[in-house]
Amino acid sequence: SIVSPLLRTGYHFQPPMNWINDPNGPMYYKGWYHLFYQYNPKGAVWGNIVWAHSVSRDLINWIALEAAIKPDIPSDQYGCWSGSATILPDGTPAIVYTGIDRPDINYQVQNIAFPKDKSDPLLREWVKPGYNPIIVPEPGMNVTQFRDPTTAWFADGHWRMLIGGLRDTRGMAYVYRSRDFRHWVRAKHPLHSALTGMWECPDFFPVPKSGQNGLDTSEFGDKVKYVLKSSLDLTRYDYYTIGTYNNKTERYVPDDPNGDYHRLRYDYGNFYASKTFFDPAKRRRVLLGWANESDSVPDDKAKGWAGIHAIPRKIWLDPSGKQLLQWPIEEVEQLRGKPVSVGDKVVKSGEHFEVTGLGSYQADVEVSFEVSSLDKAEPFDPAFSNDAQKLCGIKGADEKGGVGPFGLWVLASANLEEKTAVFFRVFKDGYGKHVVLMCTDPTKSSLSPDLYKPTFAGFVDTDISSGKISLRSLIDRSVVESFGARGKTCILSRVYPSIAIGQNAHLYVFNNGEADIKVSHLTAWEMKKPLMNGA
Ligand code: FRU
Repeated sequence: SIVSPLLRTGYHFQPPMNWINDPNGPMYYKGWYHLFYQYNPKGAVWGNIVWAHSVSRDLINWIALEAAIKPDIPSDQYGCWSGSATILPDGTPAIVYTGIDRPDINYQVQNIAFPKDKSDPLLREWVKPGYNPIIVPEPGMNVTQFRDPTTAWFADGHWRMLIGGLRDTRGMAYVYRSRDFRHWVRAKHPLHSALTGMWECPDFFPVPKSGQNGLDTSEFGDKVKYVLKSSLDLTRYDYYTIGTYNNKTERYVPDDPNGDYHRLRYDYGNFYASKTFFDPAKRRRVLLGWANESDSVPDDKAKGWAGIHAIPRKIWLDPSGKQLLQWPIEEVEQLRGKPVSVGDKVVKSGEHFEVTGLGSYQADVEVSFEVSSLDKAEPFDPAFSNDAQKLCGIKGADEKGGVGPFGLWVLASANLEEKTAVFFRVFKDGYGKHVVLMCTDPTKSSLSPDLYKPTFAGFVDTDISSGKISLRSLIDRSVVESFGARGKTCILSRVYPSIAIGQNAHLYVFNNGEADIKVSHLTAWEMKKPLMNGA
């Protein structure tokens, strides 16, 4: 098939060409944000992995530099895989990453690198000390599943970092300790583990119990909770729990005893191998994540690129303490053009209206809905309590409901042959409590064949008794990145329209529920293109 260059994203992070995956080693250094990422310099499929490097003043406009870490020592000659940066007390950034040192099996070791010149704010050159590797798997460990070191934290005279692993079918967050950041010893027990399969790209960080500020990874105390995230190889989603950490016993305990299996996610869509960092300039914790293509591999090769990163998100603890909240960093708003607004508009059952006056192929849309009455909410079948995605697969955007489906049709063609629906549907459980489902339904997103078009969904833990709920969608040509109820539930989806591209993309509000809804306010902005790595 023919892939349109108009499907290339405008303001989501990507290099000019080739394959990218995980964000690596994000940090703030001497006024610059640094982002490294898994990159194939030779093509649009995974392989030949190096750490590509970009820098930014605002996490939105990016300048590409030379790759920072490339295979050139025995312990990384077959690949420089994911890892993290830690700023040491004297201000020196250290990168620890996974190296592949054999061609046949993926034998995974951990290496360290330092800037050649600490006075260079762009940190252009990195050197690998001769004492690498710093950590190798011990006999009996699964050497092919031992990778992705975290940012280290310091307490009681010791550094600690996590390495993701697998023991039989148990996902492991191994703890390694060091006094000097050079000699590392594994703690007897993992920080945490669960019967989930391999834990890729673990992330572990403190969050204040209240407020939206972030904390440095080494801060702790009684005003702090902890978050442990793992990327599950088996499902390709990023799951987290919230809990407590004891640096004497070196254990983390999730607050919810079933937390490891309840499976809170950062994002219920296409978002994987994410990593957070503490931004001292704005005292916030920022989440970066990778979204792969859901187009076919031949199309990826024809396009010459594959993979993007989500818009960086600020994350903090919800006042309930039960989940995190996420919101696109405020810097993205500098890309907004002239606002287009709609207010107080009723959308009756079965109706829709178009939002015009902007190029909605590259847009930011914020909308507040108000449901006229919740009486018509459909009964909730508890069989779906743990499977929002399945529920949404059955009750897609075109499936009429009581309260909802209502929401946005984005990247829609003028005649609605193509459209991606982002919507809510409200149910009522056996105790009279409302259950809110948020979905992205891409099943009608494109007339092109051979596309993977999974429906994504998550529940929204919000009180809808007032009838009010908000939605924000960042639309970017082949990306729809949505935030329900001010960041309670997030869904990123990749779509590849064949008609609804460029100026032929339209934006609508729809209501396929019996109950009328009102758009209290809607504001949409066409988004400008930032500097994007020279492309
Ligand atoms: C996650 C991952 C990591 C690994 C890297 C290799 O997407 O598989 O576990 O370090 O990608 O590119």
